[in-house]
Amino acid sequence: NPVPLPALIEPACALSLAEAGRLLREGRLVAFPTETVYGLGADATCDRAVAAIFEAKGRPSFNPLIVHVADAAEAEALVELDDRARLLTARFWPGPLTLVLPRRAGSPVSLLASAGLDTIAVRMPDHPVALDLIRAAGRPLAAPSANRSGAVSPTLALHVVDSLGARVALVLDGGPCRVGVESTVLDLSTATACLLRPGGIAAEEIEAALGSPLARAAIDPHAPKSPGMLESHYAPGLPVRLNATTAEQDEALLGFGDIVGTLTLSAAGDLQEAAANLFAMLRLLDGGPHRAIAVAPIPEHGLGLAINDRLRRAAAPRGQP
Ligand code: TXA
Ligand code: MG
Repeated sequence: NPVPLPALIEPACALSLAEAGRLLREGRLVAFPTETVYGLGADATCDRAVAAIFEAKGRPSFNPLIVHVADAAEAEALVELDDRARLLTARFWPGPLTLVLPRRAGSPVSLLASAGLDTIAVRMPDHPVALDLIRAAGRPLAAPSANRSGAVSPTLALHVVDSLGARVALVLDGGPCRVGVESTVLDLSTATACLLRPGGIAAEEIEAALGSPLARAAIDPHAPKSPGMLESHYAPGLPVRLNATTAEQDEALLGFGDIVGTLTLSAAGDLQEAAANLFAMLRLLDGGPHRAIAVAPIPEHGLGLAINDRLRRAAAPRGQP
């Protein structure tokens, strides 16, 4: 076996993008910035490359991956878009909305990427480096968050190297991620659109665009349709306690609004700012001297749904990843 090279971090530029595109076409893994979190990218049409993602993440292989495209026309070649899908892509793409759609006959996407399902999750990220990379590779890119399975998602290039090290060939550095929580995953393979994972686009905005309420996925931890539904996920090393107004002894407090903490997600009570800070602040507190992390209450609307979803998983009893 060849000795793995340590991961390189390179500022995203024309030269590093061309190199990254070449690595991807060879079946190697490249981490890249999106507006949500850093993704661990591989050629979505190559079984061997997609298998390398599961290996690097230590991820259970029944979890399907999101396939990233550079525009809606590229998605048309992979999946069947209906009127709802066209309306939502026109309204929210590029952006943090992932659509689960029926696989098109002859779709080049690896069956491993969709975990053998007859649907594929597609999204067009709102980040110039991600879009340039997809074009440089000339392939759609399968990309989960660029961290070991079950751990806190990366919002800085350094987080990726921390978590994956030599398991990734190259990390393109595009600075901090603007949104900070993963995309909203919406299942459009059924008659009623179903929210599988709350994320960067608020459920209320999608309901307003569709003019009808979304179904919410029933949570069955034994048969997760979305790994966002596995109980423990996004977990820092320290225990996490929710809805705290003060810290107990030896606890760090992650504040919000009027509750000022060791670190504060948003003193102004702004949910967008809180989402953007969430994972980086959890990592900072995790690396500090405390024995646990207490978190202030976050309102359950808009981006608060995604923040509370990730926090509940961070606080869930730790079982298998
Ligand atoms: O913001 C994001 O979505 C990030 C960045 C890198 O784009 N990616 C990400 O990917 O979070 P990942 O693999 O960690 O999450 C994929 C989500 C999971 O909840 C998975 O179960 C769901 O999408 N998913 C993928 N394909 C699916 C399918 N065919 N049916 C149902 N759910 C699917
Ligand atoms: Mg993830």
